[in-house]
Amino acid sequence: MTARPRLTVIGTGYLGATHAICMAVLGLEVLGVDVDADKVDRLNSGVVPFFEPGLPELLTKALESGRLRFTTSFREAAAFGDVHFLCVGTPQRADSEAADLTYLDAAVTSLAPHLDRRVLVAGKSTVPVGTAARIAARLRELAPAGDQVELAWNPEFLREGFAVDDTMRPDRLVFGVTSDWARDRLRAAFQPVLAQDVPVKVTDLQTAELVKVAANSFLATKISYINAMAEVCEATGADVHDLAEALAYDERIGGRFLRPGLGFGGGCLPKDIRAFAHRAEELGVGQAVGFLREIDGINRRRRARTVDLVVASCGGDVAGKRVAALGAAFKPNSDDIRDAPALDVAATLRRMGAEVVVYDPAAMDNARRAHPELGYATSALDAARDADVVVLLTEWNEFREIAPSALAAVVRRTRMVDGRHALVPAVWAAAGWDYRAL
Ligand code: UGA
Repeated sequence: MTARPRLTVIGTGYLGATHAICMAVLGLEVLGVDVDADKVDRLNSGVVPFFEPGLPELLTKALESGRLRFTTSFREAAAFGDVHFLCVGTPQRADSEAADLTYLDAAVTSLAPHLDRRVLVAGKSTVPVGTAARIAARLRELAPAGDQVELAWNPEFLREGFAVDDTMRPDRLVFGVTSDWARDRLRAAFQPVLAQDVPVKVTDLQTAELVKVAANSFLATKISYINAMAEVCEATGADVHDLAEALAYDERIGGRFLRPGLGFGGGCLPKDIRAFAHRAEELGVGQAVGFLREIDGINRRRRARTVDLVVASCGGDVAGKRVAALGAAFKPNSDDIRDAPALDVAATLRRMGAEVVVYDPAAMDNARRAHPELGYATSALDAARDADVVVLLTEWNEFREIAPSALAAVVRRTRMVDGRHALVPAVWAAAGWDYRAL
């Protein structure tokens, strides 16, 4: 076997496509694998099927280098790869708060029967603790190479919008392994990343699985903590921004992930804390992480309170009112609308009888598919035409740059509800707007 292993990346969604592209750019030979033939064709022809700054350029570069291609064939993947990364999604189940492991199990069942030599399979997907041990046993059972097929767990911490940087220069790598051989295979796979002095934590499978959910739970807790403080501030007239700034000077607390507002969404934080609480209950330690339910509750309340603020700004009723919703993605620099607070608020206002017109710089197609009941515009100003109230729901830079006078020229009423604290209140108030924020 060559010192530098050949990699496969199974599942070319957000995580897998980014991992495959970045590893190829870093000099490794990579084969991406997906059951979706259309996605495979698009990637092979240089099209990234989602919005991520910098990634399309790197895909072109990786394809031109000849080190990256994509396939639907697991047989080909098994013949090619020395290390197989499992990057399929683990969404929330439709019928409970648990993680849906269908795609992961299907990937293992498709790959394993072709594994006829010593290889490493490395899981990257976010999973309930204990999943890796189950998959390791399944691989041994299904693979012709039996015990020669080892499993490692290598959680991924990338953020959408910063995925390239987070993959090329991660804060840390976590290798959950059961042998020195597996550890050394991972070291070889990540050699170009490790060359930049990235810290590595080598640990067991279950700790590696837990690091990921513990990290996301901590981040969710930080956001809900400041949003809980915001609720108290609202009741007392205190200023949560001054509070957050004052807290942040304490290096033990730090200032990141302390931005109050509409709260967290996306395909990770909300479902991960629910799946973690669920798994902990199964393990008999539900009480230990019972606070995560409260974190989820505080987060959901932010959406309800934003709706209340819009209703209040319209004088108590939004029925028949025209609402301009600026933003649909769960955060800026993303077209991801999974569990997006913005669309949740927009859809709730629509259910209450408002006519809601949405504009988002990147997530329009996804939003339209998920919420055909909402109206859509081609720009922020277009969305705001004749609006009774404008609601800022995702803090894209282009919304921060809107001049109050330009917006005032097209709306029916100058009412602004800033769900993300993205605007300067004094500027809008001075321009004659009824400016409100949570
Ligand atoms: C999150 C984690 O940050 C990543 O480390 C992790 O790898 C990823 O989930 C995952 O599990 O795959 P991501 O979902 O891309 O990454 O987005 P974040 O930047 O974490 O933002 C999550 C949400 O929190 C967004 O809706 C954002 O608007 C909100 N947020 C963030 C706040 O409301 N306040 C803050 O101060 C920070």
